[in-house]
Amino acid sequence: MSGLVIRGLTLELGDRKNRKRILRGINLDIPAGSITGLAGESGSGKTMTGLAVIGLQPAGSTVGGTIEFTGRRGSVDNLLSISPRAMNALRGRDISMIFQDPTASLHPMLTIGRQLTDHLRHHLKVGGSEARERAISLLERVKVPDPPAALRKYPHQFSGGQLQRIAIAIALACEPSVLIADEPTTALDVTVQAGILRLLRELCDSLDLAVLLVTHDLGVMSALADTITVMRNGEVVETGSRYQVIREPVSEYTKSLIDALPNAHRGASSTETELN
Ligand SMILES: Nc1ncnc2c1ncn2[C@@H]1O[C@H](COP(=O)(O)OP(=O)(O)OP(=O)(O)O)[C@@H](O)[C@H]1O
Ligand SMILES: [Mg+2]
Repeated sequence: MSGLVIRGLTLELGDRKNRKRILRGINLDIPAGSITGLAGESGSGKTMTGLAVIGLQPAGSTVGGTIEFTGRRGSVDNLLSISPRAMNALRGRDISMIFQDPTASLHPMLTIGRQLTDHLRHHLKVGGSEARERAISLLERVKVPDPPAALRKYPHQFSGGQLQRIAIAIALACEPSVLIADEPTTALDVTVQAGILRLLRELCDSLDLAVLLVTHDLGVMSALADTITVMRNGEVVETGSRYQVIREPVSEYTKSLIDALPNAHRGASSTETELN
C-alpha cells in the first residue's frame, strides 16, 4: 500500500522515575488517494502522532513500534529506525506537514517568491528560472490569485486563508507522497475554512496524496475524511469509514463527541453538501 502503515506506535516522555506515556500503541493506515481523519479531545496525542511520523517528537522522547512508508520515490520499512540524516531528506520532500498557524512555516522577512524558490532549489536542485516557473504553477494549483504578484509580496500582505494556501503550496513543492495537516483550518473563519478543505480534497485526489488530517472538529471530519480514527488518552478508541464512525459509532466516547456536535453536522450532512 502506498502511504503510511503505523503499527504499535508508542511514545513516552520523561525519565525513568517520571515517565509519561503519551502514545500507547497506535495503529493507523494512511493510504494514498485518501484523507485519513484523526480526531479526539485536546491532549489525546493527535499532534504527537503526526510529529512522530516526521521525527519531530520532543527531545527526550522514547518512541517504539513501526511506521512503514511507501512513496513514489521509494519506501522505508520503518521510519522510526532511520538516521536523522535520512529523516531530514524525507521531511519536507516525501512527507510534508502543514500546521494550524501558516505563519509557522513562513519567514516574515522574506517574500513568498524567495521562500518558495529557495525551497524548490534546495530540495529539487533546480535553477532559478525553473524554480520560479514551478513556484508560479504551485500558486496556481492552490488557487492564490495573480501568482507573479504574489511572489513579490511578504507574508503579512496576505489574509490567513491565502497564507494557508501558500503554506500548502510549499508543502506540495517537492511532490510529496504524504501530507500531514494538523488543524489546518482551525484558525480560519468558516467560509475560508470550507475553501481550504475543498482544496485539500482536490489535491488529495489529483496528486494521489496520502493525507492525515488532524482535527478536534468532527464536523470537519464528517465533511471531508474518508476514514476516521478517534483517539483518547494516547489510544485509538475507534476506526472506521466516515459513514460508520459518524452514523454508527461503536465507542461510547465517539458517541459523546458526536452528541456534542451541532445538529447540522450529524450524519455527514450539511458541510458535505457544501464541499461537494
Ligand atoms: N513538548 C512536550 N513536552 C511534554 N509533554 C508534551 C509536549 N507536547 C505535548 N505533550 C503532552 O502530550 C500529550 C499529547 O499532546 P498532543 O499535542 O499530541 O495532543 P493533541 O491531541 O494534539 O491536542 P490538541 O487538540 O490540543 O492539539 C498531552 O498530554 C500533552 O500535554
Ligand atoms: Mg494538536
